[in-house]
Amino acid sequence: MKNRKLFTKILGIGAYVPEKIVTNDDLCKIVDTTDEWIQTRTGIRERRIAAADQTTSDLCVCAARRAIENAKIAADDIDLILTGTITSDVAFPATSVFIQRKLGLKDIPCFDYNVACSGLQYGIEIARSLIGLQSYKNILLVCGDKLSAVTDWQDRSTCILFGDGAGAIVLSATENEEENSIIDVLLGADGEHSEILILPAGGSREPTSRESVNERKHFLKMSGRDVFREAVKLMGNCAQEILEKNGMSANDIDFVVTHQANWRIIDAIRERLGVPSEKVCVTIDKYGNTSASSCIIAIDSLIKGNKIMKGSKILTVSFGAGLTWGAAILKF
Ligand code: UT7
Repeated sequence: MKNRKLFTKILGIGAYVPEKIVTNDDLCKIVDTTDEWIQTRTGIRERRIAAADQTTSDLCVCAARRAIENAKIAADDIDLILTGTITSDVAFPATSVFIQRKLGLKDIPCFDYNVACSGLQYGIEIARSLIGLQSYKNILLVCGDKLSAVTDWQDRSTCILFGDGAGAIVLSATENEEENSIIDVLLGADGEHSEILILPAGGSREPTSRESVNERKHFLKMSGRDVFREAVKLMGNCAQEILEKNGMSANDIDFVVTHQANWRIIDAIRERLGVPSEKVCVTIDKYGNTSASSCIIAIDSLIKGNKIMKGSKILTVSFGAGLTWGAAILKF
């Protein structure tokens, strides 16, 4: 039995964003900004913000239930939960165990990984590797963040960017190569850029103290221009590399789904790949940057819009704090 070659099939996808809509005009009431500045510099019109008592695992469970329903399996059929998040419910244990408990599942292994906005691409690589080892049959990959909990609402250069949300995918083992959904994955990271997007305090380097709170170091800090420059370079390189590695060109791709960080970044990647704007999925106007879940929310919107046909190919590419980056070519 162990000699079978197993492939990975995407069985179901689900996404969830909280109900509360915060518009650019709402933000003008708390920081010195304008709707015009936010829209022209980022493409964002509004974002969703979780309720005070809604945790990251709550967001993830809503997305997970939808993915399991779309996969047409029972929750009990899941044999591993894997969660990509940088805003875990608590420092430890892993958010995955709260998701497990809320889904009413028992005993199956659960773990989190921390690659920020590259959560989808890293998660797919981990899942397909474990499926290839014949260790698990139905893996629940969940990516979710409640970034509003670590956003400095006094910092106009960051608070206008982010939103809360979650996305989930059920990835299953199949012996049928025709059903394989993962054509390839390419990942990378560069710790030299670790300081340009960071939540400085609350870890072992600088445990939370009165000083760290006074200095607002328990909120995320970002050097926007540096992140922008690296994002365009790294996502562009990664997208081109994975296409070349697989003997494909952008013409072979039906949709490009990039991390939704800034409309100008998305458009720079589109231009570099030479694809028309109809092929590029944009959700940043409605949800802002939802971190790990942004690519899944975008793919889910394509599915809901009936844009994905059997055989459609998606190139998804992301980057995040670390810096980390990753690309995947998916077949539906
Ligand atoms: O998941 C990954 C995370 N993050 C990203 O991918 C973000 C990447 N970076 C960006 O998207 C952009 O750098 C930002 C949207 C964050 C900023 O846009 P920018 O065009 O790079 O603006 P900037 O930082 O160069 O700032 C230009 C001006 C500054 O004023 P001065 O110094 O020229 O007088 C800022 O103080 O805009 C000012 N500014 C604002 N003005 C109105 C910064 N934030 C705001 C604001 N409203 N919200």
